[in-house]
Amino acid sequence: MAVTTELEIRPFDAPLGAEVFGLDLRTPLSDLDFARIHRAHLDYHVLAFRDQRITPEQQIAFSRLFGSLQIHVLRQFQLAGHPEILVVSNIKENGQPIGLGDAGHFWHSDLSYKETPSLGSLLHAQELPSEGGDTLFSNMHRVWDTLPAELRRTIRDLRAEHTYLAKYEELQKRNPWRPNLSAEQVAEVKPVVQPVVRTHPETGRQALFVSEHFTTRIVDIPEDESAQLLAELFGYIERAENIYRHVWSEHDLVFWDNRSVQHLATGCPDHLRRKLYRTTIEGDKPF
Ligand code: SIN
Repeated sequence: MAVTTELEIRPFDAPLGAEVFGLDLRTPLSDLDFARIHRAHLDYHVLAFRDQRITPEQQIAFSRLFGSLQIHVLRQFQLAGHPEILVVSNIKENGQPIGLGDAGHFWHSDLSYKETPSLGSLLHAQELPSEGGDTLFSNMHRVWDTLPAELRRTIRDLRAEHTYLAKYEELQKRNPWRPNLSAEQVAEVKPVVQPVVRTHPETGRQALFVSEHFTTRIVDIPEDESAQLLAELFGYIERAENIYRHVWSEHDLVFWDNRSVQHLATGCPDHLRRKLYRTTIEGDKPF
C-alpha cells in the first residue's frame, strides 16, 4: 500500500535545485507525494533524493511515473537485462568500458537531437570517486530571462540544427574506446531542427535550447553569424550565477528537467572509479 510520508523539500541556496528528504523510493509513492514531487520538479528543475537504496527495477518504476523511457542509441552501454538503463561509468573490465565514460563532457540537454527530446533524466549513484565527479546544472529559464533585450529579440524566432554526431569524432579521438556507430545507429540519430528558445509545456516558461554538445548551427542565417551567435549564447550557459553544482553522496538519485536545464559532467581522475545508472524519460516535441 502507498504510504504518505513526512516528505520535505528544501531548495538549495542556488539558482535551481532542491533536496528531497523523508521519501524511500523502494515503496510506492502516494498520490499526494507524487503530486508534491511533480510540482517541486517543475519549480526547482533539479531534485536530489538522498540515500536511495533502490534497485535498477525500482529506478525504472519511479522514472516511468513521469512518462515512457527512452533507449540510448549506444546499446553497448545498457545495463544487462535493463535496456532502459544507460550505464555512465569510467570503469573498464577486462580492458573493455562498462559504460559511457565521457557522458556529459559538453553542456547539453539530454536527447535534444531527437524529434521528441527528453522530459527529464534520473541518475543514481552506484560508485563514486573520492575526488571530482561533480555534475553542474545551468538554469535555461534564468539564462533566457536575463539575456540582453536585443539578443532576445534576435534569437526569439530562430531555429537550430541538433545532431548526436556533432562532437562524436572529437570525443572518439579523445577516448578511443568510444565505439564506431553502425549504419542503424547513425540512421537512428538523423539531425533535427529545434526552436532556439523553447516553451516549457507544463509551466509555459521560456528557456534557451541550444547546446555546446549537440547544436551545430542556427538555420537560415549565414554560417559565420550562426557560429558567433552560438558562441555568445554558450557563454551565458556557463556563467556561475546560472549554475548549481551537485556534489554526489552515496545512493543519491538526481532527477532533472531537460526542458529547463542543461548539465555538464566535470569528470574525475582516470584511476578513480565512478559508476551511475541513468534513465531518460521521453518528452514532447519542443515548440
Ligand atoms: C550525463 O550527461 O548523463 C552524465 C552526467 C554525469 O555523469 O555527471
